[in-house]
Amino acid sequence: MHDKDTFYNFHLFFCTNQRDSGSACSDFGAHKMKDHAKRLCTEMGLSKSGGVRINMSGCLGRCEHGPVLAVYPEGVWYTYVDADDVNEIIHEHIIGGRVVERLKI
Ligand code: FES
Repeated sequence: MHDKDTFYNFHLFFCTNQRDSGSACSDFGAHKMKDHAKRLCTEMGLSKSGGVRINMSGCLGRCEHGPVLAVYPEGVWYTYVDADDVNEIIHEHIIGGRVVERLKI
């Protein structure tokens, strides 16, 4: 689905918040996974108009589920453990249009 008036069809917001207490998303690999998602989307040719933009975010307010990312415009939230989870979110949700229920929060 591509709306010609929309620059990106999807935004993936990765919380990369840090706290001195060490209990924020950045303490669970958020920066590394954000970089991984960016690299993957670039390699797959998705990082362009009509594709997907990988964004960093401050605390998204759902720390207890961290690390978290939110997919917009749908407003679907995910947690992830590793690159395999991020790959699945991009392949299933962004490309396939299917919510990854096992990672949804
Ligand atoms: S620190 Fe990531 S959601 Fe709050």
